[in-house]
Amino acid sequence: MRIAVFASGGGSNFQAIADACLDESIPAEVVCCIASRPDAGVIERAKHLEIDVHVLSSSPEGIAGEILRVLDQKNVDLIALAGFMKMIPESVVRLYRNRILNIHPALLPDFGGKGMYGMNVHRAVIESGASESGATVHLVDEHYDTGAVVLQESVNVEENDSPEDLAERVLHVEHRLYPRAIALFANDRVRIEGRHVEILERDSPDDN
Ligand code: GRF
Repeated sequence: MRIAVFASGGGSNFQAIADACLDESIPAEVVCCIASRPDAGVIERAKHLEIDVHVLSSSPEGIAGEILRVLDQKNVDLIALAGFMKMIPESVVRLYRNRILNIHPALLPDFGGKGMYGMNVHRAVIESGASESGATVHLVDEHYDTGAVVLQESVNVEENDSPEDLAERVLHVEHRLYPRAIALFANDRVRIEGRHVEILERDSPDDN
């Protein structure tokens, strides 16, 4: 399976996914990194791993065409959004329906939606008094954070946590959860019907 990772930031999730492909815990290859800005930290990480990088440069109207060209050139099967700060154009969602994943740093459907990114999420969780937060890997549809959930893992919210403390605890989980979710797709262990995602049992003990 050929994966494109889309990112705008430091790229620690990109790194976790690429490393898991290299050590073969995901039977797939990261064939390109699409960055939304030329100063994204993820670019250095990709170069270091000799993974092709494409930095988006189109106006909002041209972005769908630009993305689709790269995906086509690279023969991409699965897209993993990892801290990508742009909305995926509808035409891309339509063509790659059920083949675009995102990771969100909270337990969706709570604390998602427009404006819920980065520290905003962790601040909102702490202000709500919730005792748990976590990470969610979900399919991407035409709206923010509303696609069907593939995997979730929770963490405790400790008394006196700052948003940064919570972010760190959640990020640690993300680095394990996202590669696990992608491995399920690479091993053909995901069945999707409408909003229902079923994880199929392993068919052999070696199957990840
Ligand atoms: C992660 O917290 C992820 O949940 C969110 O954006 C952040 C990206 O971090 N979507 P990184 O760039 O992968 O380090």
